[in-house]
Formats: sequence, structure tokens, C-alpha cells
Amino acid sequence: MQKRIMKNKNILQACNLIIFGTNGDLAKKKLLPSLYQLEKKNMLHNDTKIIGVGRVQFSKEDYIKMVYQSLKISNKKNIKEVIWKKFNNRLSFYNIDINFPSQFLKLKNIIEEKEKIIINYLATPPDTFKIICDGLNYSNLNNKNSRIIIEKPLGKSFITCKKINNHIKKYFTEKQIFRIDHYLGKETILNLLSLRFANTLFINNWDNKTIDHIQITIAESIGIEGRWKYFDKIGQMRDMVQNHLLQILTIIAMDPPESLDEDQLREKKISVLKSLRPINYKNVLKKTVKGQYTSNIIQNKNIKGYLEENEANKKSNTETFVCIKANIDNWRWYGVPFYLRTGKRLPIKYSEIVIYFKKPKINLFKKSLIKLPQNKITIRLQSNEGIDIQILNKTPGLNNKDKLQAIKLNCTYSEIFNYSYLSDSYENLLLESMIGIQKLFVKKEEIEEAWKWIDLIIEAWKIKKQKIYLYPAGSWGPNKSLLMINKDKRNWNNFNNYQKNNL
Ligand code: BG6
Repeated sequence: MQKRIMKNKNILQACNLIIFGTNGDLAKKKLLPSLYQLEKKNMLHNDTKIIGVGRVQFSKEDYIKMVYQSLKISNKKNIKEVIWKKFNNRLSFYNIDINFPSQFLKLKNIIEEKEKIIINYLATPPDTFKIICDGLNYSNLNNKNSRIIIEKPLGKSFITCKKINNHIKKYFTEKQIFRIDHYLGKETILNLLSLRFANTLFINNWDNKTIDHIQITIAESIGIEGRWKYFDKIGQMRDMVQNHLLQILTIIAMDPPESLDEDQLREKKISVLKSLRPINYKNVLKKTVKGQYTSNIIQNKNIKGYLEENEANKKSNTETFVCIKANIDNWRWYGVPFYLRTGKRLPIKYSEIVIYFKKPKINLFKKSLIKLPQNKITIRLQSNEGIDIQILNKTPGLNNKDKLQAIKLNCTYSEIFNYSYLSDSYENLLLESMIGIQKLFVKKEEIEEAWKWIDLIIEAWKIKKQKIYLYPAGSWGPNKSLLMINKDKRNWNNFNNYQKNNL
């Protein structure tokens, strides 16, 4: 009982949440709508305030109007007046030119509330982090009760990431720094820990003795959508693999932690990253495929290719698709490949993890099936969230003595749970940052180790002048990615079904 009260007390901590870049896309599409949802769920302390900071010359009324508009768009006009009234009372706005540290003193009221938690959310591009941190320091907004939240991309390489980390470290301790990877706030990713460590069935069958290989796919159907200039400098490898895919891989591959304590968990993830086998100029051609989408007609609509998007440089070699065969050289995973793939303009928005188990050493059912299909667990991260497990079952019937059939034990979230459980990842992340728990945030070493591995691949691509394979928008990427996995006598999960249904 005591524990519960303590927990509630923690949840309902009063904060001054300062959002730098409050007029930007991230704030309007994700942060403000998520805060509104937390209000609706009664998860904000009565004294929590939301303070927008930006370059625009907004009055408080302008700001409130802007927030209301953003909520209307994200909630499809469904704003409850009572909740909005409560939310609206939390809002204020300050026009600050971050280039002048003295301007941060405009936040005088917040600076004076020394005992209240301050959360500085930098919803701004990384090249502003340094100057904002200087201003926070100048105005003592980095006191012992403050936290800082930063968003990706944290650098473009190990060195640039380290520079950002080092600068922030000058003013904040690691315990105060919350690095966001929004995938870590997704409900289905949070479930991976429960699935792996609360079920004996999986705890004892999660290594190279039982698992054959693992596939992780993050497919997006959208293209670059007006961010061409930004994306072209980054590419899919830095945009998706360095962070989201590697984060998923670490949770799938980590050793069981002694507890769910944030430090324990993150240390286990770091060891996975340290055990990733380097992909360098010697093996890069075998282990990676890069692709770029070209135009196509999908459902009678002309879809532009990457090089035809607005503001495109027609000679760009930037990848919009990546596929990697990764290996983890530790006792648990030696010999088990992890196939990763992600791309823009694939047929559907869909992410999944598929765990393929080894076949039994002896096949007693040869008469029915010469080759036994493998058991596999498919974890659908988004959309149609759920888990299914493929097992082999006797086909019922007197004539079907030893006849086997592959069937699926299916748990689809929308059928089993009330769907309102699936909060947006930013709701989880904002809540955790307000409680002050770092479990869902990325530690400095994690991000730096991930960059080291990625840097080596990007360097190897340059050395080997690795070819970029074209793929039509709406397909599952270049054929070469299929050849890569086929070479190992394996196939992408359901690849053929997707092809039939979606092309
Ligand atoms: C972001 C990438 O981190 O994740 C985007 O920068 C990508 O390019 C997005 O579209 C995908 O996130 P989600 O939650 O829609 O899968």
C-alpha cells in the first residue's frame, strides 16, 4: 500500500515543462497532443505548467490558439471542453532568441521556483543544442532539479555525437539527460521485456541452441514528404538503423538483467552493441544492401521517385532502403544471424520482429512433411499489433493419422485488449521524464557504441563504392535484399504473400 502511494506521488510530480521549438512540427504533432492525452488520463500534476519557447512573436493568446489548432488536427476535432480548459490554464509562452543567453532570464518566474522540477525539452535541431545549453546554464535552468530531453539525430557520426554529448555533459549530469528514441515508448516495444523475461517458455529458449535466425523489419509506405534536403544528408541508415532498429535489436538480444532497474537494463543493452561483429570494407558487400526508390503507379496514382521529389538533387546516391545481416559475437548469439531491413515507400507501414526456431533434429513425420516448417514467433510492432506463434499440429480426422499442419496461435491486441491501452509513444516518454525514470531513454554509451558500428559500415560503403540498387515505389526494396537472405537458404517472412497482396 505504502509503495503504491509513493508511486502515485512520483507520477504526480509538479513540473515546469519548457518546450524549445514549440511552434515546430514535433511539438505540434507529437508533444502537445501527447500532453493533452496525459491531461485527459489525469496523469499531469495539478501544478504542472507547460511553457512554450520560440522565436515567433506570440502573445499568450496567440500561443493558446496555436496549441488549440494543433490539438484539433491531431484529435480530429474531438477536443473535450472541460479537459481543454484545464490544459489551457497550464500554458504560457516566451519569445526568446536563443542566441542571447541573457534572454533566458525572461523565464524569471520559472527560475525562481527553485524547488520545482524543470524539464527542458529541446524540440529543435541538434545544431541549437549547444547554444540552448549555454543559455540554460546562464539562467540556472540546469540546477539540480532540472532535466534535459534531446531528440535525434544526435550527430551524424560517433565524433559529432560525442561532441554533442560532451557539451551537454558540461551542464547536466547523465542522470539529468533524457535522450529520446521514440520507438522505446511504443507499447509493443515495451512489451518485449515482459514477453522475454516473464515467460519461462521464452526465457529458456532464447539463444543459439534453439533459435535459427531473427528478422527485424521496419517498413514505411511514405516517402520523404517535404524533408528531402534534410533526409538526403542523413539517409535511411542514420535515420532508422542507427537508432530504432539497433534499439530493437538490443532488447531482443540482451541477457536477462538482474532487475528492471534503468542502469541494469541499459548496461545489458550496451553489451549487445559492443558484441556486434564489425561490418567493414572486407565484408560490407556480402552483409549489406542499399536501395533507392524510383517512381511507380500505385492504385492509379503516380508516385514520384526519390530523385523526382521536390528540391531533389538528381544525382543523389542517398539510400532510402537498407538491409543488413548482422551477427552478435557472444556466447548467447554466436551463429545466429539478425537480418535487419528498413525502407521508405515500401508497400505498407508495418514493423515486425520474427524469431525463427531451429527444426527438431529428427523428423518423425516425413510421410506428412519431408521438411518440417520452423516454429516462429512473429511480434507485430505496428500496425495490427500482436504476437503469433507458428506451431505444427496434427490435422484432425481419422484419415489424417500423422498428418501435420502449420497453425498459428494468435494474439491480436485489438481483439484481446481495449485499444485505448495503445498510447502514443510520446505519452509514455513524457510521463517517464516527468517521473524521472530513464529506463526508456538512451544512455550516452549506447548511442556512441551504435554510432561506432554504423560509422564503419558507411565508411566501408564509400571505400567499396557500394552500388545503390533501385526499387520501384510500393515494392519490398531491391531484389538484391531477397538474394542476400536466399543465399543463406532463408526467406523474408511472408515475402511472397506481401508481394501478391500489395503490388
Ligand atoms: C523517425 C524518422 O525517427 O521515425 C522518420 O526520422 C520515420 O524518417 C519515423 O518516418 C518513423 O516513425 P514511426 O513511429 O512512424 O514508425
